[in-house]
Amino acid sequence: MLKTINCGDLGPEHVGEKVTLAGWVHRRRNHGALIFIDLRDRQGVAQVVFNPETAPEAHETAGSFRGEWVVQIQGEVAPRPEGTENPNIPTGAIEVVATGATVLNESLTPPFYVNEESEVDELVRLQYRYIDLRRASMRDTLILRHRVVKFIRDFLDKRDFLEVETPILIKSTPEGARDYLVPSRLYPGQFYALPQSPQQLKQLLMVSGVEKYFQIARCFRDEDPRGDRQPEHTQLDLEMSFVEEDDVLNLFEELYTELVEEVTPQKRLAKPFTRLTYEESMKRFATDKPDLRFGMEMADLSDLAPQTEFRVFQGAVDSGGVVKGFSAPGCASYTRRQVDELIDFAKSRGALGLITISLNGEPGLVSDLTMDQVRSAAARFLTLEQVKEIATRTGANVGDMILIVAGAAKSTNVALSALRNEMGARLEMTDPDDLSLAFVVDFPLFEYNDDEGKWDAMHHAFTSPKEGFEQYLETDPGCVIATCYDLVGNGVELGSGSIRIHDRALQERVFKVLGYSAEEVQQRFGQLLTAFEYGAPPHGGMAPGIDRLLMVLTNRDNIRDVIAFPKTQSAVDPLFGAPGPVEQSQLDELRLAVVGVGDPATEESAGA
Ligand code: AMO
Repeated sequence: MLKTINCGDLGPEHVGEKVTLAGWVHRRRNHGALIFIDLRDRQGVAQVVFNPETAPEAHETAGSFRGEWVVQIQGEVAPRPEGTENPNIPTGAIEVVATGATVLNESLTPPFYVNEESEVDELVRLQYRYIDLRRASMRDTLILRHRVVKFIRDFLDKRDFLEVETPILIKSTPEGARDYLVPSRLYPGQFYALPQSPQQLKQLLMVSGVEKYFQIARCFRDEDPRGDRQPEHTQLDLEMSFVEEDDVLNLFEELYTELVEEVTPQKRLAKPFTRLTYEESMKRFATDKPDLRFGMEMADLSDLAPQTEFRVFQGAVDSGGVVKGFSAPGCASYTRRQVDELIDFAKSRGALGLITISLNGEPGLVSDLTMDQVRSAAARFLTLEQVKEIATRTGANVGDMILIVAGAAKSTNVALSALRNEMGARLEMTDPDDLSLAFVVDFPLFEYNDDEGKWDAMHHAFTSPKEGFEQYLETDPGCVIATCYDLVGNGVELGSGSIRIHDRALQERVFKVLGYSAEEVQQRFGQLLTAFEYGAPPHGGMAPGIDRLLMVLTNRDNIRDVIAFPKTQSAVDPLFGAPGPVEQSQLDELRLAVVGVGDPATEESAGA
């Protein structure tokens, strides 16, 4: 080894020892004749001091050092002189008095500072990711990610789970996104698909008798990337035989509780995890991924609409929609501008508009409210009694502001839930160290796709209907509840799973509701249906996203910050320049012809 100890591992216990260090020049300072170097390796930073009197050669070499040069230092560990200790860093009580120095490699001036967490354009960070990953916050995230995955592996190993790798070159296994395709050279015109998840493979492993399977699995989905979505992401993919819903949920509750307590002990994890049904979640929070760190629950005001003179409310309800709202505490004082911002926010999330009702005045009882205290564009269409009723239902007090959206149920819920999260953030109701994990259960099996006029699987096609609902599959698909569950953390969908269908006839009925023809079923799912005829055990599982978990554990909004080499928001890898063109000879070999060319550098896509 070119070093005898890591910089970051040095401490007072090493005083008097002769050491060899190797790492990067983090910072250089000259103090009179003395040169001070902060030397950095993965474990941390140590101060090295070069004295021209005692080590003139080393001092001269150190004089040439620049930021990010790779250097080797020989020296002796000594206590820092009294008054110069730095309690802010773990090695702050000692320094290494250099006796020798060697330059192992020079560095160009980096495109951004490694030794400070300043704001840097993301494209530049991704282009020079190998430098970006040197920065403390990125290094810490890499380490945390390693710990998380290791904890998961150890936890599941102790419980008899078998880690099985499944292929990356397979046939389409749909999770609702577009496939990434890989052309076959040996069979021109034929394609592999990269797995959107190992869903069918893990079910086949249950038929194989594996009983308890997991995999840290890479999943590929050609969908528009978002803040919490990447073209390739990693799941803890897990499946078990002979289990019921509670067995899977209990296992994950235990895993996540122990994981959080071990790897992020500073988090305040609410225990036990909340479990609520999809219906309750939609009703109380207007979303199936509620942030449970704060209240501001929804109230349904639809039945009040016909009694009011307010056309906006009436129109929504007359056309089959809803009127719903919630109260934001202490926000009656919001200015016209602040309210307008919220209206724009609601519109950007799909609402037609936002009605606010501010209840002005000294904190007091809503029952004593007078109309003078009510500030709202809708005030002249509402009676005092109606305002009081709205305030009572939304739990508003004098001093609060009620936010109401009217319209089609789906878009109203989307906008209201986004508004609730926005107000939670504005009012600083969330503490970064609070972690609230919840299971949302009893999802509907299907949801109607208005655009295509057909039923889609709410989760995926392999989810089983809950006992007692099978009989409605054909007659009333919309009412069928699934044995399906999501894990939600601080308002983020962390994972989902279900008890699966393991019976061929039932699986075929579900495919039929989803509109697959017999040929399509045979072509896409034939292998699974055949396997079901050879002794498939009852089974179920779940697949939480590892990237999303890391986002929640590190309080980040951007999924790219928890992945070593991510793609940009427009699915480009700026480091390697992927996607990129290939040689004509490669295309010829695959017998592919390209029609129209898109350029990731200009984000111009021929297909768009
Ligand atoms: P699902 O499609 O819900 O289920 O995915 C499970 C979890 O994976 C994460 N995830 C993503 N993370 C980042 N980028 C993406 N594009 C992305 N897509 C999904 C989320 C999500 O909750 N096979 C089923 C699971 C099962 O039934 O066992 C599946 O893949 O955290």
